Amino acid sequence: MCGIFGYVNYLVEKTRGQIVDTLLTGLDRLEYRGYDSSGFAVEADKSNKNYVIKEVGKVSELRKLVKEANMDMSKRFSTHVGIAHNRWATHGQPSQKNAHPHRSDPAAEFLVVHNGNITNYRELKSLLESKGYSFETETDTECVAKLAKYVYDTHKGRLDFTELLKLVLVEIEGSYGILVKSIHYPGEVIAARNGSPLLVGIKSERKLKVDFVDVEFPDINVEAVPDDVTAGFNPRLSLPRSNSLLDAGNSLMVPGLHNDLRHSQSRAFISDDGMPIPTEFFLASDLAAVVEQTKKVIFLEDDDIAHIYDGGLHIHRIRREEGMSSIRSIQTIEMELQQIRKGNFDHFMLKEIFEQPESIVNTMRGRVNFENKTVKLGGLSNYISAIRRSRRIVMIACGTSYHSCLATRDLFEELTDIPISVEIASYFLDRRPPLFRDDTCIFVSQSGETADTILALKYCIERGAMCVGVVNGVGSAISRQTLCGVHINAGPEIGVASTKAYTSQYITLVMIALSLSEDRLSKQARRNEIIDGLGKISTQLEEVLTLNDKIQAVSETLVEKPKMLILGRGYQYATALEGALKIKEISYILAEGILTGELKHGPLALVDEDIPIIMIATKDKLFDKIINGIGQVTARSGKPIFIASQNGPTLVEGNKKGNGVTESETDPKTAEKSYVKFEVPETVDCLQGLLNVVILQIFGYWMAVKKGYNPDHPRNLAKAVTTE
Ligand code: F6R
Repeated sequence: MCGIFGYVNYLVEKTRGQIVDTLLTGLDRLEYRGYDSSGFAVEADKSNKNYVIKEVGKVSELRKLVKEANMDMSKRFSTHVGIAHNRWATHGQPSQKNAHPHRSDPAAEFLVVHNGNITNYRELKSLLESKGYSFETETDTECVAKLAKYVYDTHKGRLDFTELLKLVLVEIEGSYGILVKSIHYPGEVIAARNGSPLLVGIKSERKLKVDFVDVEFPDINVEAVPDDVTAGFNPRLSLPRSNSLLDAGNSLMVPGLHNDLRHSQSRAFISDDGMPIPTEFFLASDLAAVVEQTKKVIFLEDDDIAHIYDGGLHIHRIRREEGMSSIRSIQTIEMELQQIRKGNFDHFMLKEIFEQPESIVNTMRGRVNFENKTVKLGGLSNYISAIRRSRRIVMIACGTSYHSCLATRDLFEELTDIPISVEIASYFLDRRPPLFRDDTCIFVSQSGETADTILALKYCIERGAMCVGVVNGVGSAISRQTLCGVHINAGPEIGVASTKAYTSQYITLVMIALSLSEDRLSKQARRNEIIDGLGKISTQLEEVLTLNDKIQAVSETLVEKPKMLILGRGYQYATALEGALKIKEISYILAEGILTGELKHGPLALVDEDIPIIMIATKDKLFDKIINGIGQVTARSGKPIFIASQNGPTLVEGNKKGNGVTESETDPKTAEKSYVKFEVPETVDCLQGLLNVVILQIFGYWMAVKKGYNPDHPRNLAKAVTTE
């Protein structure tokens, strides 16, 4: 949700003139995080001004505007600093006015781009209005720019940029990843985060001196400000109760600290001979925006303020916190550029669907030993016995990630004999259910940045539960805040609709269930069967992908239908829900995933000869019950499309010709009533969903394409939901 990108160039002459290109490329890479509008601000050379340009719609619209504006990039913008933003609208319509960057005043003394949700912006706004500020947008972000100017003016420009932003940010409630630049601090930029992801990419012409950056303590200590300097000033007084900060008049000075800040040059960016190293800094909400520039990154922590000036990166803390590490290490990421490019595919979604045979192998690589029938998850090895002793395992996630938990719940129950509950994060938070120290909570998230899941994690940490992460996002909030966990290693997922992350989450959870049951002799045969199944699953998935053309042909016949039912039971209930979500979110067809056993309790009323019904009817121990369900549907003139097992019990293609579907053998019992059948290879029951879901992913994809929608950019949605 919203992408933010910033660029700071220090002593690297050759790239300075390309700042606009750099910003636009960063925005392209982050488009999947928001495509309602985009914009950027750069310092105009020597004129002590910022140039701001923004446009509604995708980055391509912004590019057009840049072209129309006939900006002579190389001459006019041979400058050091730029900030940019892709918006996913939360406060105010998608419009040019509401697009970021937001400014403090017509002279744009302060400019801000922001990802997140400022919950006290109304209070801040009315307070600033009472001080004479007039607001020009409907966004929550604008109050940050105006507050920065107000604090700056109040203190007559005496504050260092970091000091200023600390005073601003302690007044902000809610979540933010934020970049701020100002004409008062030319060549400098501030990045800060609280609850929204932010990282710093570093590209240096020489080897960095050390592979970490010190967090600079001590910080501004607002508690040290004497009472008589700022009457009524408290370390953290929210604005409605007291306008303490804003009433501080001219007198707020932070004894001793001012001067120190400028002296602490961060060590990484100084060479052995004491000279500064030419360096480019990339600030981004997401690795995808920096990967083609550099592989060296620092993931900021909540309450970090990163201040870039004079070629150095200085990280400070907004608040003091006991036990917070004073080191931010420079990590080398493994992501490659081609992973975030579409290659020969028309859309990221299709590319990611077709990547699954490989991505699931990456998930298992080095973890599953197919010969010895063992599973080793490095991130959990020290905790497995503690998890085994849990009195309950609670799996918590949202959307597709939640479905991966549902898909594997039965297996956890079967292999561990530990009670398992599966929770939608937002509903869990609404209820605030009892939770205990001997509970283990598993947080599943592709991005690792989903606000609801992070808040649920906080709730569980506060109650002393053991918290385990299952995430794709390396360096993400969930991976850092959980005690231990497993990266699913699916590679970057750019398509907004999650596909390969689902199958990798599913496999990761299966591996965790296998690890937990490793000590149980009674489960040995079952475990071996599942591990053998995992060994074949990638090849079988490749086989499922060969059905692409047939699925495309069938989808063409259904695009005009406004609604659709997807039925599954047992392990396939989760598949039905996930398939329905895929179809809903990208083709805007009202698809409903239904537990086949529940049909007769209501949904059967929807069945007639017109409504498309996909029935998951692969062979497993519930097959007889599935046949009952088929009977209930066909008796009401329903014409199901089957996802069935190759060589499975007789469910044959119907005798409807055309639509690219060939007529095949007919079965006297069902031929009249069935319509078409997709045959998938058979695997172990608990893994079958990995193959079945791919049919529905492809189905959703083609439905969207046939309807003329871009499956990578479903309306109203964006990747990584960082607001509640
Ligand atoms: C749907 C989809 C979403 C996400 C959900 C949670 O295709 O992608 O339902 O699964 O927003 O996101 P993560 O997994 O990043 O926590």
